[in-house]
Amino acid sequence: MERVIIFDTTLRDGEQAAGGTLNIQEKLEIARQLERLRVDVIEAGFPISSPGDFEAVSLIAREVRTPIICGLARAHPGDIDRAWAAVKEAEHPRIHVFLSASDIHRLYQLKKSREEILQTSHDMVARAKKYVDDVEFSPMDASRTEPEYIYQILETVIDAGATTLNIPDTVGYAIPDEFGGLIGGILKNVPNIHRAIVSVHCHNDLGLAVANSLESLKRGVRQVECTINGIGERAGNASLEEIVMAIKTRGDFFNLTTNVDTRQIYRASRLVSELTGFPVQPNKAIVGANAFRHESGIHQDGVIKMPITYEIMDPRTVGIPASSLVLGKLSGRHAFKERLAELGYSLSEEDFNRAFSAFKELADKKKEVTNKDIESLVAEEQRTVSETYHLDRVQVSCGDRGIPTAAVRLIAPDGQVLADAALGTGPVDAVYKAINRLVGVSNVLTEFSVKSVTEGIDAIGEVLIRIESDGITYTGRGADTDVIVASGKAYMNALNRLLAAKKAAT
Ligand code: KIV
Ligand code: ZN
Repeated sequence: MERVIIFDTTLRDGEQAAGGTLNIQEKLEIARQLERLRVDVIEAGFPISSPGDFEAVSLIAREVRTPIICGLARAHPGDIDRAWAAVKEAEHPRIHVFLSASDIHRLYQLKKSREEILQTSHDMVARAKKYVDDVEFSPMDASRTEPEYIYQILETVIDAGATTLNIPDTVGYAIPDEFGGLIGGILKNVPNIHRAIVSVHCHNDLGLAVANSLESLKRGVRQVECTINGIGERAGNASLEEIVMAIKTRGDFFNLTTNVDTRQIYRASRLVSELTGFPVQPNKAIVGANAFRHESGIHQDGVIKMPITYEIMDPRTVGIPASSLVLGKLSGRHAFKERLAELGYSLSEEDFNRAFSAFKELADKKKEVTNKDIESLVAEEQRTVSETYHLDRVQVSCGDRGIPTAAVRLIAPDGQVLADAALGTGPVDAVYKAINRLVGVSNVLTEFSVKSVTEGIDAIGEVLIRIESDGITYTGRGADTDVIVASGKAYMNALNRLLAAKKAAT
């Protein structure tokens, strides 16, 4: 079986999704999980785009040693130099250069002739090649470009030293058969194509990103670019877990394989959702909450008799824990540790101890602690690690007669205990106003949602919020059996991110 190179762009194109900003430590955490997932290439960011992106790519290049670490660059000398500066310490560095090829982009956006695009593509690949052997080139908007012109560009950049040629369906316009035809044409008509790996990068505007990627594999492509949970610009990118599991489950059809440790998929999906604040829809293939749930009696009957009747994949192969046994207040450290391992967590001793205390506290309030509860409480504990201010206490008084009032107590960075109170239109508003009085950072709340992690009246409530300050969105999450406390935690989490970003910018 031939192997497909899995190029993950969660940290670059995925992070381009509106409202999905990640801080540097969060990017490193995702990169480490991608390494555990055994992707071949991590596109860690677009170094010229901001000092924060540069720093994140450099850090990942130094810390994550197994996969290729790739930095994106426009076809500008400054971009390429900056991309190299960011990835140069990687064990396996790559520079990815892109330039628009379609008439639409050329005429309306770049205002450049075809000859100029050809020349610049050649020169910028040659510039990148002086730094590193591993150079990828993408003719942007390829699916809306005349194929003969694409052939010309590809031949030129291979001559200049490109080793991977990526064909992007930038605006998600392609239809599988047509896109496959473009790939077939490239493999047939570019004379030096055997010197490079052909890759695809598909967007999901028509919901066809995965279908287009799979069609390309059938036609001879050997690298696919994708993101965890399919996050990305607009409707997103091709979803990594869907592509990898299609290749694995339908090995009979594709006759291909990947290096991915599929048991790490579920953990990667949860982590990316948690850190970006983008929930995974319940019916999402592979990682959605309902992906392996059988509701109909006939299906349940079949699965009990023989899982293969209605399950084409074993949930354990994607890392969904087999054990649905609930833990409770009598469960000890050992059982808790084992369950964490099954869920894909590898916590330090200190983090484990904190998570275990939180588990014990929860088990006192809630009779049965499920896997979802455990994921939620570990995430909550991890959120508090990098806090500036810690929300120590929340107390509200509300109802249909009184004026909603909140008192809060925070622990400041220097350990000082701060307390204040405020009135609001409701209890959450009152809590936020009381926190604002203490922290004093102006921002606007743009999104607020609450969901329960499991069924039942004693379920943990999870709050997701987004706030905006100086045009930048910050996501916050909080979990607690009390939704007002969860709301306060989520707000504190978003404010702490905002404060950290402001500190990093000074
Ligand atoms: O969608 C696109 O064309 C891109 C390129 C930078 C590869 O993201
Ligand atoms: Zn893209």
